[in-house]
Amino acid sequence: MTRPSVLVARAVFGDIVDRLRAHFDVEDNPQDRIFTKAELSAKLAGKAGAFITGSERIDAELLDANPQLRAVCNMAVGYNNIDVDACNARGVLATNTPDVLTETTADFGFALMMAAARRMAESEHFLRRGEWSKWSYDMFIGSDVHGATLGILGMGRIGQAIARRGALGFGMQVIYHNRSRLAPELEAPLGARYVSKEALLREADHLVLVVPYSAASHHAIGAAELALMKPSATLTNVARGGVVDDAALAAALRERRIAAAALDVFEGEPSVHPDLLTVPNVVLTPHIASATVRTRRAMADLAVDNLIAALTGGTPPTPVNPQVLPLKG
Ligand code: GLV
Repeated sequence: MTRPSVLVARAVFGDIVDRLRAHFDVEDNPQDRIFTKAELSAKLAGKAGAFITGSERIDAELLDANPQLRAVCNMAVGYNNIDVDACNARGVLATNTPDVLTETTADFGFALMMAAARRMAESEHFLRRGEWSKWSYDMFIGSDVHGATLGILGMGRIGQAIARRGALGFGMQVIYHNRSRLAPELEAPLGARYVSKEALLREADHLVLVVPYSAASHHAIGAAELALMKPSATLTNVARGGVVDDAALAAALRERRIAAAALDVFEGEPSVHPDLLTVPNVVLTPHIASATVRTRRAMADLAVDNLIAALTGGTPPTPVNPQVLPLKG
């Protein structure tokens, strides 16, 4: 029997790729070239499955060009790079990597929020520029995290993990807005209060975005929303670029309409809006919230578990669209 062929679209831990080689003919990409849309489609010719990351876009056109493709396994919890409706219509399985990155991403979101509140990046740049000549009472004066009101937009697994850090570790009052309200047994230990989006924007001292990207969350934070926030507030985005209108945010930061921001994700990344690069009161990191050795290995392993199960008649552990199972052929 011929072995199915799979594509590993980006460079990833070699020993984890070897797990795929035990089952499939593997074409990998150790040089980590970023394929154009046409190159990705050509690479997928004859492949039954693909290990992908958030950088690879899977859409109807690509699926139609590769009707033999049966599974696309994302090494990411977010899957806005995959047109799931197009997958459903063609019986293609999509999978993601939930849970394994929750605590690591929450650590980083909390660290970014603290860095914004306490002006860590801005003050470090000042020091490196050699501008530190004396101590003064108001130098890089910021706002407290402990005891403050933590606002969370998107109270899924990562939102709840950030809320736990705030409520249990830092004595913060937690308010949140989400498509649906949490069950009382999840809210109670955090003292979390469900509020309208407008109340969230008005009341939060530190607002953290953890909402998945979709047409509905596009520019969920734009000029109008920023105008509702306290001038002393901070905004942290560990969700997806596009949830925030980056141009509007840069303007609000420059005019000090909010105090500071911290961003791990950007509209059109890896490009960053040029205005964000020149405002001082923003912490910028290159989409690394889940980047610890243990967590990135767990994510890669889970994507591989999904791909192996999908193409060998097993049960993929974390399908996005389980309704297409069992896969044909
Ligand atoms: C990272 O952004 C992810 O979705 O896992």
